[in-house]
Amino acid sequence: MVKVQARQVERHFFVRNSLGKKERLGVLSGFDLDIYEGEFLSLVGPSGCGKTTFLNILAGLDDYDSGEILVDHKRLEKHSFDRGMVFQGYALFPWRTVRKNLEAGLEIRGLSPAERRRISRRYLELVGLLAFENHYPHQLSGGMRQRVAIARVLAYEPGLLLMDEPFAALDAQTREVLQIELLKIWEADKKTILFITHSIDEAILLSDRVAFMSSAPGRIQDIITIDLPRPRTEEIRNSAEFAGIRRRVSSLLRNDFLKNMSFGGYL
Ligand SMILES: Nc1ncnc2c1ncn2[C@@H]1O[C@H](COP(=O)(O)OP(=O)(O)OP(=O)(O)O)[C@@H](O)[C@H]1O
Ligand SMILES: [Mg+2]
Repeated sequence: MVKVQARQVERHFFVRNSLGKKERLGVLSGFDLDIYEGEFLSLVGPSGCGKTTFLNILAGLDDYDSGEILVDHKRLEKHSFDRGMVFQGYALFPWRTVRKNLEAGLEIRGLSPAERRRISRRYLELVGLLAFENHYPHQLSGGMRQRVAIARVLAYEPGLLLMDEPFAALDAQTREVLQIELLKIWEADKKTILFITHSIDEAILLSDRVAFMSSAPGRIQDIITIDLPRPRTEEIRNSAEFAGIRRRVSSLLRNDFLKNMSFGGYL
């Protein structure tokens, strides 16, 4: 079943150029994408191609100019409670403890204190941070803060999870641990995930499909199905099959790159 259908989505902004003149900037144009229920789909593309813009639109934080977006076969509504977003650069509430950060969305949903506590503790345990439930964000490392941000969106239990480069700011080792952790959580309850990353390896390891965007204005250029077995483990990351897919993706991107010089940023 299809969870999200984006058809011919257009989005532009007006910006001032270096001469101070107002200019129309086409960010998304002819943007088509289907995301299936329970799917893990990664969106990859050069910086500035419109990935975050599309995520913000899906999250109901921004509008689009024309085209159509359906979520669960209904026209996208702003401020739906059924989507959760992990922002590019973690955005925790500094005045709330770790557990209270997780409970913010649950409060908005009107859950009782006991219920909120049960859910928040369950997800803190999942990301290995239960012992830090009464800490404040500034008392944690960057990697721990990012795990809180991920636990917070999971605790909210949205039908659609939007993750904007959630691991970009982490060191390589923490990143690899969290990739496998996220997969374990996803494999347990198969939420639909739209995941933005600049790492081809990360996209291949995590995804059912990887969608590649072209820049200026952004649209989907290619979609590749990743037919590696699940669960995806460290062994799979180091397997010959993984290396084979990586080679295929690299040569595909190189061809695109030669065809269209603006399609940079990957290789
Ligand atoms: N509110 C806004 N007003 C004007 N321009 C904007 C606005 N939001 C985004 N843009 C422009 O739209 C383009 C796409 O931005 P977006 O953040 O979607 O890129 P991105 O693909 O997420 O890039 P990155 O990989 O660097 O995060 C950029 O040129 C950006 O400057
Ligand atoms: Mg972005």
